[in-house]
Amino acid sequence: MAKARSVYRCTECGHDHPKWVGRCEACGAWNAVAEEPIAAPRPHRATASRAEGRRSAGPAPARLRDIATSPLARWRTGINEFDFVLGGGIVPGSMTLIGGEPGIGKSTLLMQAAARLEHAGRAVLYASGEESPDQLRLRAERLEEDAGAVQVLGETRLEAILDGARAIAADVVVIDSIQTVYTDTLESAPGNVGQVRECSGQLMRFAKETGTAVVVVGHVTRGGGIAGPKTLEHIVDTVLYFEGEATLDYRLLRATKNRFGSVDELGVFSMTERGLIAVPNPSAIFLAARSDAISGSAVTALMEGTRPVLVEVQALAAKSGYGTPQRVATGLDPKRLAVLLAVLERRANTSFADLDVFVQVTAGVRLSEPGADLAVAAALLSSLYNRPTPADGIFLGEVGLGGEIRPAGGVERRAVEAARLGFRRVFGSTRAGVQVPGMSLVGLDHVEQLVRALAA
Ligand code: TYD
Ligand code: MG
Repeated sequence: MAKARSVYRCTECGHDHPKWVGRCEACGAWNAVAEEPIAAPRPHRATASRAEGRRSAGPAPARLRDIATSPLARWRTGINEFDFVLGGGIVPGSMTLIGGEPGIGKSTLLMQAAARLEHAGRAVLYASGEESPDQLRLRAERLEEDAGAVQVLGETRLEAILDGARAIAADVVVIDSIQTVYTDTLESAPGNVGQVRECSGQLMRFAKETGTAVVVVGHVTRGGGIAGPKTLEHIVDTVLYFEGEATLDYRLLRATKNRFGSVDELGVFSMTERGLIAVPNPSAIFLAARSDAISGSAVTALMEGTRPVLVEVQALAAKSGYGTPQRVATGLDPKRLAVLLAVLERRANTSFADLDVFVQVTAGVRLSEPGADLAVAAALLSSLYNRPTPADGIFLGEVGLGGEIRPAGGVERRAVEAARLGFRRVFGSTRAGVQVPGMSLVGLDHVEQLVRALAA
């Protein structure tokens, strides 16, 4: 076979180099040059079809209204939180990427899903370059599910994996992981940017052409992105991230891109001796360890995708030693904490000046929406005054630089979830309007009123 020829193209600007370089000669981007196979030159479609006459032209354009809609088929795995995050199940012909740190449970989840899909009559190929087939078997034996029927392949050559998938007419192919796979068309090593891109591209084409659902595992770098090019995320249909504190039993699965469903949906699992188990009621789990007699704790309801989830915000303001007081935020942007502290000092006449301040969110959840501001402020004040926040209250609202409190979006749905878990009061903007049976609103327009409400 003739040696495959390739070109080294910058993924930023598209400039071609005759050999690999660390820095693009044209745009100067570092580590952006990736090996790509030189495709056989394809005649330009317009010229070609003109030469051959009209017959061989591609599909004709059609009006949107004339296009028949067919309901999207989905294969449910029966692992409810997984199906939920996917938007209802795996879509045939789709490509899904699951990212997460080593040991978080990606292989476990996918083996469980593979077992269940196999039981539902789907042919599943689990190709692993990370573990040998006997290691896979050892893992499978621990699981609740019987994965015995799942076909496994300890192979990293993409062409061989695709042949294997065709041979068993696989409905679903799992690739664990994309960084271990390589294609013959490139000479570079597996895991290299060019390899990851090219293999993903080929897998995507395979999925679309055969209707096979492809699920790939992607390693996460220390920065939190998926190792290899960002383009991997652009190629696939769905990107799921698996996260969680290694020391905790919970695992959070989140969709950050989904062509077939909504994003930011949160699925919660717990890691047990027998694999991952979906947690149907995350709020209850997140609040389980909460003691409402302790100061510095406030509960809020976050909108995670379409579903409200209750979490506890904890703050500790402690006399600092020498030097500049520390501000430590876990699960929250440190800049947001700085803003809230400044607002409390200037607008509510409090002082954190010689106190170290620590804020954290339980269960490894991140506060990324402004609606959680009020809970952070309440936890801070509660710690400052050493007074617990009301045990039956949740805090919902955005805090502005003037100290004003604005309503959070979707208050109604959050309040319903809180009522279900036994909360009776929403502390939030007077404009929030809570009409949930058993729930009342403690209206607050300014952080000064929050101070009074908590000190009373
Ligand atoms: P794994 O799925 O191998 O993680 P990843 O593929 O993301 O690297 O998960 C490995 C961890 O999960 C490992 O620490 C062992 C633990 N585990 C359980 O606690 N219970 C189980 O049933 C299984 C299979 C694994
Ligand atoms: Mg693994």
